[in-house]
Amino acid sequence: MTEGAIYSIINLSYSYIPGTMALQNLSFDVDAGTALCLLGPNGAGKSTLLQVLAGLRPEYLGSIYFMGEEIRDILKSREKTYDFRKKVQILFQDPDIQLFSITVEKDIAYGLEHLSNDRETINKAINEVLKELGIEELRNRHPYTLSGGEKRIASLATVLALRPEVLLLDEPTSELDLKFKEKVLRILKSLKEKGKTLIIATHDLRILKSLCSKVALLNRTIKALGAPREVLSNKELLISNDLEPYDLRECSLSSKQ
Ligand SMILES: Nc1ncnc2c1ncn2[C@@H]1O[C@H](COP(=O)(O)OP(=O)(O)OP(=O)(O)O)[C@@H](O)[C@H]1O
Ligand SMILES: [Mg+2]
Repeated sequence: MTEGAIYSIINLSYSYIPGTMALQNLSFDVDAGTALCLLGPNGAGKSTLLQVLAGLRPEYLGSIYFMGEEIRDILKSREKTYDFRKKVQILFQDPDIQLFSITVEKDIAYGLEHLSNDRETINKAINEVLKELGIEELRNRHPYTLSGGEKRIASLATVLALRPEVLLLDEPTSELDLKFKEKVLRILKSLKEKGKTLIIATHDLRILKSLCSKVALLNRTIKALGAPREVLSNKELLISNDLEPYDLRECSLSSKQ
């Protein structure tokens, strides 16, 4: 475990079905304030890893220390679990898991109500996040009536509203148009500048190139972990893990805003 690590992962394995491993013997640290991207083909274990790091799948093998304490020990204590959940938030790959109320506003309020009893504070946080993402018009919509991209951005609002220290984001920009992609990227960059820790499963070259401090190529095991340019320029490694090679000259951030 290195000093400054917010997560220390040692020999982590995870299995859903006996005899098959979704994650196998992962060992690495995540430094506080870093942005780590998880890249990998379908079924590589990216979502599983994020859910394990969020404390949602404690039946893992090996050890995971969060700020020096084993996640399973944190989950044994009510106070520590509350504190952990306040610090660590996950954006699920499937927005329908995140959105279960009758309006977007109520979904955003749901988490906030666990942090505060003050209606004014909650309303202020809701207003702020809707404005920040530019989705004020979605406030009173039923989540089931939203488009795919609108669902993604609304579910991101439920996470951002809680102002967590650690954001575990599963494909935060998939299905988003260019305007929302760039908006989300700007918000994530500003969170990184504020010292938040970001762990992001993504194939989005913009995020990989201009936000991430490190990229982990995951395919059940860690196949590579290093600077984005180093991992993304290894075409053979990408192809052998069923990933399309990137053109790193592509997508300089062109924003009309
Ligand atoms: N609830 C579950 N029960 C059984 N197997 C599961 C379950 N969830 C995931 N798996 C399996 O675990 C493996 C890893 O899945 P995971 O969702 O973590 O991959 P992923 O890298 O996020 O893939 P994708 O890019 O498609 O989102 C896959 O083989 C998947 O079929
Ligand atoms: Mg996934």
